[in-house]
Formats: sequence, C-alpha cells, structure tokens
Amino acid sequence: MGTGSSGSRRTRAPRTVPEVSVLRVGHRPGRDPRLTTHVALTARALGARRLYLHPPDPDLAARLLAVTRRWGGSFEVAPATEWKRLVREFDGEVVHLTMYGLPLDRVAPRLVRARRLLLVVGGAKVPSELYRLATVNVSVGSQPHSEVAALAVTLVRLLGLPTARVPRGARLKVVPRARGKKVVERVALSPAEAR
Ligand SMILES: C[S@@+](CC[C@H](N)C(=O)[O-])C[C@H]1O[C@@H](n2cnc3c(N)ncnc32)[C@H](O)[C@@H]1O
Repeated sequence: MGTGSSGSRRTRAPRTVPEVSVLRVGHRPGRDPRLTTHVALTARALGARRLYLHPPDPDLAARLLAVTRRWGGSFEVAPATEWKRLVREFDGEVVHLTMYGLPLDRVAPRLVRARRLLLVVGGAKVPSELYRLATVNVSVGSQPHSEVAALAVTLVRLLGLPTARVPRGARLKVVPRARGKKVVERVALSPAEAR
C-alpha cells in the first residue's frame, strides 16, 4: 500500500525558539528582594537565558548563581546600570510587558519567529520612555496583576510549557512524584552549598 511518501525519509527541522532575555526595571535592592527573586527564578525555570537587573543587585545575582550551580543550566543575572542603553542597543525585539499593551495572543505569532527577545517588566512605577523605546508593548489580559505572572504567561506562550528535563550540570534533581518530596543529589554538594 502506498504511503504517500516520496521514498526519501524526511526529517522535520527542529522548531527553533527565540533566545529570551528579561530586563527588570524598578528593582529596589534591599526593599523587595522576594519579588525580584521570584522574577529571576521564574525567568530561569521557564526558559529565559538571563535577567538584566536595573539597578544592579550583586547580592541577588550571587543568590541566583548559587541556585544555578545546584539546579543546573547557564542562567545568569547581569547588571543593567543603564537600562535605556540596553534597550536601545538590544539586538532583537524589545517587548515591554504592560497591562496597557496589545494582547499577547495577537503579537505572539510574530514574536516566536524572532531570533532574540528582550522581555521588559516593571515595578510599582514604570518610566514613561519605556513605552516609546520598546518595539512593542504587550499585555497579558488587559488587567492589572504582577510582573511575575505576566512574565510566566508570556514565557510559556513563546517557549512552551517547561518539561521535567534536568538542566545540564545540575547537582540536584527533583524526582516527580504524586505525593511527598524526593530530591536526589547527582553530585555531592559541599556543606556550604547544601545549606
Ligand atoms: C505592579 S505592576 C504595575 C502595573 C502597571 N501600571 C503596568 O503598566 O502594567 C508591575 C509590572 O507588572 C507587569 N504587569 C502587570 N499587569 C500586567 C498585564 N496585564 N500585562 C502585562 N504585564 C503586566 C508589568 O511589567 C508592570 O510593569
């Protein structure tokens, strides 16, 4: 019976996804470490390559480095001393996440084809220039919520749901279970890392 194939085996080209960086503006070092830490952990876990932080926060960057050493991958927190310069010189599309922007679903089909994306999230106050400097202002549901939620939904929409795959170099690995907690050490942690 014919298969409809031409005889040569076709391999489907793997779907390439954009390399995503995140810029968090309006961070308040020492004042809201938990919220910005959640932005960083969310960016890392859902597939972003790096987080730029304005203003820079070396303590937070060190904490995230420790997370990456334990849980793997190559995520980094980089200082963004001059956020405007970073946005202007970024070699890709700058996507400002704001409740006032265009619906994510409308712009996502174009964004997934980009090579590099910079997703920008704000804090309590967002510099008005950002709306003009961004390639596009994008909203997740045209209602006020949070930078963590907006970032998470956008990353899943653009990169897909994260899998349970263990990132390269991970020393710790979660064993998914329906009940209880199981973490295995793939490489023994030093006493300092185990804390
Ligand atoms: C406390 S909110 C400030 C709300 C702000 N008025 C705005 O422009 O979205 C902090 C950040 O959360 C993000 N955010 C909140 N709601 C959002 C939404 N519906 N869509 C996209 N981003 C949102 C934005 O990045 C915003 O800078």
